[in-house]
Amino acid sequence: MKDKTENLQAAKINWFPGHMTKARRMIAENVKIVDTVCEIIDARIPLSSRNPDLDELTGSKPRLVIMNKVDMADPERTRKWAEWFKAQGKFVLETDCKSGKGTAAFTSAVRSMLREKLEQYAAKGQTGRQLRVMVVGIPNVGKSTFINKIAKRRAAEISDRPGVTRGKQWINIDKGLELLDTPGILWPKFDSQEVGEHLAYTGAIRDQVVDIEALAASLLALLRDFYPDRIETRYKFAPPADASGYELLSLAGKKRGFLISGGEIDTERMANILLDEFRAGKLGRITLELPPED
Ligand code: G4P
Repeated sequence: MKDKTENLQAAKINWFPGHMTKARRMIAENVKIVDTVCEIIDARIPLSSRNPDLDELTGSKPRLVIMNKVDMADPERTRKWAEWFKAQGKFVLETDCKSGKGTAAFTSAVRSMLREKLEQYAAKGQTGRQLRVMVVGIPNVGKSTFINKIAKRRAAEISDRPGVTRGKQWINIDKGLELLDTPGILWPKFDSQEVGEHLAYTGAIRDQVVDIEALAASLLALLRDFYPDRIETRYKFAPPADASGYELLSLAGKKRGFLISGGEIDTERMANILLDEFRAGKLGRITLELPPED
């Protein structure tokens, strides 16, 4: 079996090409012409699905953090994260773009964020002025789905493949709002192996570039620490506190009856099933990261 670190390193090489420099440059250029920046993140991995350079790139522009996929995230942890972002001076909107829940509040959230600016415009008699919002997000956070919901039409191509850079696109939203979609593709930052793993668990990194068994084993160990009851409910065994991730994977495979000739457990099959079930939400609503305690 290939070493997991080696595989995530491979992912790093495939996933962090010259696009990042281009995206950075485009964000820095376009930030000057927008009123605010809207950052979409995956509520299941609020840290790993962010790009840490964004603060530096967008400077003092007011920031709206859209915590998307809240339907799949742990509600209690989503609440903690929302509080944390607010304490950092950000505005927060929780959305489930699949059903559209939360997206209707977008326009009013932007307006209340920019209230002072709107008042200044009104004082100068510039009442009809458009508000411009730049939307950024790493691949797979649901940016296209979000834009489609907000624009109420198929404005953005869903499931754009990583690496395909789209051009600058202004999208008119009702009530005097304009969105600037994707000035280049913002890539995540693999500054730790954990970030790479968390992106891979949620499917943001393609499975072809990671070691499935190692990935599933580390996910099981994480679930055992955070949500042991979910393992018990879904895979019908109480995960031992001292078992390794790989042992947990074997136990799950055994319970499911995934055997290969000679009585060996088919851990590869179990790994694929576990990742599919996790991504499909069959283990319940899960958030894999907690806000930093600072
Ligand atoms: P991107 O532009 O940021 O790369 O992401 P995109 O909108 O393509 O969404 C990536 C996947 O996430 C899509 O699933 C999409 O349906 C799903 N998604 C987006 N927002 C939400 C959400 O709030 N909740 C849930 N549960 N899923 C969301 P897919 O499997 O690639 O496509 P499909 O099966 O929906 O067709």
